[in-house]
Formats: sequence, C-alpha cells, structure tokens
Amino acid sequence: MTRDRYFATCGRGIEPILADELRQLGASDVTPGRGGVLFSGDQTTLYRANLWLRTAVRVLRPLLEGPVRSPDELYDLVQSIDWTEWLTPRHTLAVDCNVRDSAITHSQYAARRVKDAICDQFVARCGARPSVDPEEPMLGFNLHIYRNHATLSLDSSGMSLHKRGYRPIQTRAPLNEALAAAIILRTGWRGETAFVDPLCGSGTFPIEAAWLALRRPPGLTRKRFGFMGWMDYDVEQWTELRDEARRGVGRTLSAPISGSDVRGDAIAFAINNAKAAGIGHLLRFHKCDLRDLQLSHLSSGVLVCNPPYGERIGDEKSLVGLYRLLGEVFRQRAQGWTLWVFTGNARLAREIRLEPAEEVPLFNGKIPCRLLKFEQV
Ligand SMILES: C[S@@+](CC[C@H](N)C(=O)[O-])C[C@H]1O[C@@H](n2cnc3c(N)ncnc32)[C@H](O)[C@@H]1O
Repeated sequence: MTRDRYFATCGRGIEPILADELRQLGASDVTPGRGGVLFSGDQTTLYRANLWLRTAVRVLRPLLEGPVRSPDELYDLVQSIDWTEWLTPRHTLAVDCNVRDSAITHSQYAARRVKDAICDQFVARCGARPSVDPEEPMLGFNLHIYRNHATLSLDSSGMSLHKRGYRPIQTRAPLNEALAAAIILRTGWRGETAFVDPLCGSGTFPIEAAWLALRRPPGLTRKRFGFMGWMDYDVEQWTELRDEARRGVGRTLSAPISGSDVRGDAIAFAINNAKAAGIGHLLRFHKCDLRDLQLSHLSSGVLVCNPPYGERIGDEKSLVGLYRLLGEVFRQRAQGWTLWVFTGNARLAREIRLEPAEEVPLFNGKIPCRLLKFEQV
C-alpha cells in the first residue's frame, strides 16, 4: 500500500507528546514541527490516527504548496494540479483558511479563490463543477498561508478531534479535551495507580484518564470523519479497525479515578459528562472543598489539576489562598503521591511553596502555561 505524508495539528507545546502517540500507532518519519507533527503512513495509519490520537486537533494530507503573494498567484498554484484525482462534480466541498504574516491578509477571500480555482478547472474540463457546502462538505480543504507560503491540504478529520462528544457547551472554563489528554500523557500515568483531580470542574481530567486507562480510543463512537468523503474511502478497512479497537476496550479500572470540586453544579456536569462518555459507572465524583480532601483510603497515586489562574475566572489575589492550600494539602495528606498542576500564572504557582521537580511549557489556547510536577521530599 502507498505511504503518504500527513500533518497532525495540535496545540503549541504538545508536539513531542503527539509525536510519541504517532510512533506508538506505527507512523514513520515522525517529525515534530510548529503546531503539529509530520508523519508518513498508509491508509491504515491515517484511519488509526483519527481513531486513536488523543492530543491532535486534526490530521491533514498536504496536496500542494508553494509561494504566494497575491490571490491570483494562489489561484494559479491551485490550478497547477489535476483535481479529478481528488473529486468529481458530484462532490461538495468547503475550504477553511488561516493566514499569518503574509501579503494575503483576507482569509475568506483566499478560501474563495481556492474554491474558484478548483471549480473553474472542472467547468473548463467537463462542463460541470462541485458545489460548496460549508456545513457538511464531502471534502474539507485546509489552506494555511504563513509568510507567503501556502499549503493546501485535505482535512481527514472533519470536525476537530478534541470534540469527543461527551461534553456539551459549558460556560465555565473547561479544559480542552486534547490538552487534558496531553497533560495526562505527559505525567506518565497509565492507569496503574489512583488518579485524583481535586478541582475537577466538568470532569475532563478524570474522563480522559479513564479512556486512556481503558484503552478506549477517543474517536470510537464518532459517526463522521473527513476521510469518509474521500474517493479512496475504504469502509471495510475502517469498520474493521474500529471494531478491533472496540473489542480491546477494558471494562474495569485497575486503580480508582475520582474528581471533586467545591461547586455542586460542576459535579453535576462531571457526572453527566462521564455518563455520556460511557464510563459513569467507573468514576467517582463528589462535592468537596479542597481543604476537606481525604486521600488516606488510597495508598498512593497522582493528583492532577488545573486551578483557576486569574486570566479567565476568579481574580489573582483571591486565588493566593487556593494555591497555598493546594501545597499544604499535598505536603500534609499526600505521602507517596505526585502532584501535577497546570497553570498560566507563575506568581500563583509559587504560592504552592514547593520547588517543582519538573516544568513543562504548554499553551492553553494563546495563554502560555506550565505543567508543574511536585514530589514529596
Ligand atoms: C479551571 S477550573 C477546572 C476545569 C476542569 N479541569 C474542567 O475541565 O472542567 C477550576 C475548578 O476549581 C474549583 N475550585 C476552586 N476553588 C476550589 C476549592 N477550594 N475546592 C474545590 N474546588 C475548587 C472551581 O469550582 C473550578 O471548577
């Protein structure tokens, strides 16, 4: 089977974690870049990547690239390949575009020129053209222009891979699922010891942890991926891969996973989300202030949390007490445990009053953050 080159996109800082995931899936030539990881693989690898990657946003298949300084140059570049290899007039398409630091500044206009170039080629050659469907296109294109260099790719994922389907839109700062999974993978925890999030909000860490421990692929119940609209879509191969993955999902956890939060509404969200994720019966959520956290019934494990850090919810001054409390609870009640704290506020992190054993730079959207590891001395 032919091997092609792909680019899996991810949040900044996540690249090395995503690269590890890809290597484990059997991808080759894995090369971490900026905001994503390049890799090679056959069609099976592509399907596996969409099914299994926990930390990627989408997987792209670059089709052409080149320098562009104007919409007309972009149009000519797009017309330089034969589009009948990729679609027919019966296909619907959409073009998603992002531009940075380039002479072309208007991303929607650039997207329109790409669509025009493809459709005009069809009209000239066969008198009929594909139509546009911005909502549910059969083929989704991704145009990326950075420093006057355009890359046009087919989007094999469709809807962003971090949308797992277990979490409805919620108002209070929940963590992006792909970022939560990246943090858990980076801690090295794989399900063998207890996992506790004492500031769990809508439950993203415990849910992602459980899926990881059970070897449950994040894309298992998703109905549609972008590659399903491609001309070479092999439904049998996809079904086989997905069913094989389904058979491998564990039914029980080797060690308990739980979450608590001071807010009752957050706990209600977490319980509902865990149910929607199919693991409501395996996780334990309860309403509890951090100051009352009890760990004595568990021998050891990891505490993973993202306390508010004053950027989005809560203001910095009022959070000093929470960070101090986190440090105290860890020192006094968590012998044998490891604490991982994800925060975007270095001043608040110092209030934990422990020297971090490790600091991992990551971003939460555009906010530079750190994942800090604390160990008992
Ligand atoms: C940034 S949110 C965590 C978001 C969560 N990771 C998610 O994905 O939904 C921080 C959480 O800490 C909780 N919290 C703040 N102070 C607390 C305390 N003293 N005890 C327990 N939870 C607290 C808040 O209610 C909030 O849900």
